[in-house]
Amino acid sequence: MNEKKFLTLWNKYGQEHLIAHYKKLSKADKNIFLGSMEGLDFDLVFKLYSLFCQSESARLLEKIEPARIITLPSSPEEIYLRNKALALGKSMMRNNKIAVLIAAGGQGSRLRFDGPKGTFPVTTVKRKSLFQLFSETIRALSIWYHTTIPLLIMTSEDNHNDTIAYFNINDYFGLDRKSIYFFKQSMLPSITPGGKLVLKDKTHLFVNPDGHGGVFKALLHSGLLKDLQDQGISDIFYCQIDNPLVKIADPLFIGYHKMYQAEISTKVVRRKNAEEKVGIYLSLDGKDTVVEYSDSFAKKIMSVLDKDGNLLYWAGNIAIHMLNISFIEWLNAQGLNLPYHRAIKNIQTVDERGNPVTTTGWKFETFIFDAIPLANKTCCMEAVREEEFSPIKNKDGENSQEIVRRDMNNFYRKWLQEAGFMVPQDINIEISPLFAIDKDELKEKLKGKSLSFEKDIYLGENFTV
Ligand code: UTP
Repeated sequence: MNEKKFLTLWNKYGQEHLIAHYKKLSKADKNIFLGSMEGLDFDLVFKLYSLFCQSESARLLEKIEPARIITLPSSPEEIYLRNKALALGKSMMRNNKIAVLIAAGGQGSRLRFDGPKGTFPVTTVKRKSLFQLFSETIRALSIWYHTTIPLLIMTSEDNHNDTIAYFNINDYFGLDRKSIYFFKQSMLPSITPGGKLVLKDKTHLFVNPDGHGGVFKALLHSGLLKDLQDQGISDIFYCQIDNPLVKIADPLFIGYHKMYQAEISTKVVRRKNAEEKVGIYLSLDGKDTVVEYSDSFAKKIMSVLDKDGNLLYWAGNIAIHMLNISFIEWLNAQGLNLPYHRAIKNIQTVDERGNPVTTTGWKFETFIFDAIPLANKTCCMEAVREEEFSPIKNKDGENSQEIVRRDMNNFYRKWLQEAGFMVPQDINIEISPLFAIDKDELKEKLKGKSLSFEKDIYLGENFTV
């Protein structure tokens, strides 16, 4: 972006404070400032700004009903279908049809942790980071299926270099460097409620990643979509870096997705209560849709009960999806019609003198689940919360590291219990995916063995009994 274009743009959008700031910079800093704005879509941000300044228009709805969801199987037919899906999913894995994508481009602002969220030391005994845990799972799955699973990690400008450096110094956690792809999502400038862009530092605007919905564009623009197609990959298992309980590349989920020929599939859990802050999976005008908890429309349906007194719209979105590659291509070809959402957050900026200030900012983002109603074929599957979902979001309280570790301990405790071992409540337990990828493998490995539980227990790659 050249200087003239930049000054015209600021004039057009009433950003005189930036013009004044720019004029005070040295020539070298001016160049850095201009360079840092390359590729940012200012027209979009100001269009969204005026859109969100208008009062929210009421949604015109014809029909709201619970979506069709594959619940936990109980009847013989459901169990038969489940086994069929499982076999199908496993064959997809063995035949190199699936890549794993981890969305790790977020700013992790609520956790207040210095560094990419993926480097957060999460595990119960060894304090392995989320990236290490996920990478070891991919390694274990690759061994299990005798294949190399492509691992795609979506980063953003804020954490891309740090993420790559982290993998580098850790020797990619034993994964083949050539099978890991780091790709960046786009950024958008944040804006104040008064319509002003803000500075992050002397030579940069404050920008935010464009939401996990940015994954579709980023896959295309990075060239990865084509790469995956060339490798014969048909579908992507998508998850987010903040959920250490995610069952990566779950063959059952992959199998159902394939069986229903879905373009996008979603895992859901039963919502804890009417207030829980998760998106609600339902059917709107005949289309599967996720309504975000913060959406004003959600308030109308969050606490609706069925005739037995249970939540009618019980399905909570846990941000685990299967994405068909041709669908991602089609979405891009259609111009990615995902709606933008506005998040109101505290952001760290600087004033004209360069002193740090916290201010309220509007961040515009798209969400991955808004692609669901755009698909012709979807699939949704119920998962057990305790086995698959405990995201780390906050420094304290709900969804904090303490809660996540408690859930991880309970998760491993249950595996051991099913293998015949009763572990006292005050003992921390960690089972590396390289020791056992699931509870069946654990049972098999521990058959006829004894374990002592006097102190915290870690079953790692080289653990012998
Ligand atoms: P959240 O919306 O919870 O954001 O993202 P966050 O970055 O973890 O934390 P806060 O809101 O700033 O506190 C859920 C997941 O989606 C990813 C995040 O990295 C996280 O794994 N994400 C989010 C992206 O990859 N890109 C985005 O633009 C936003």
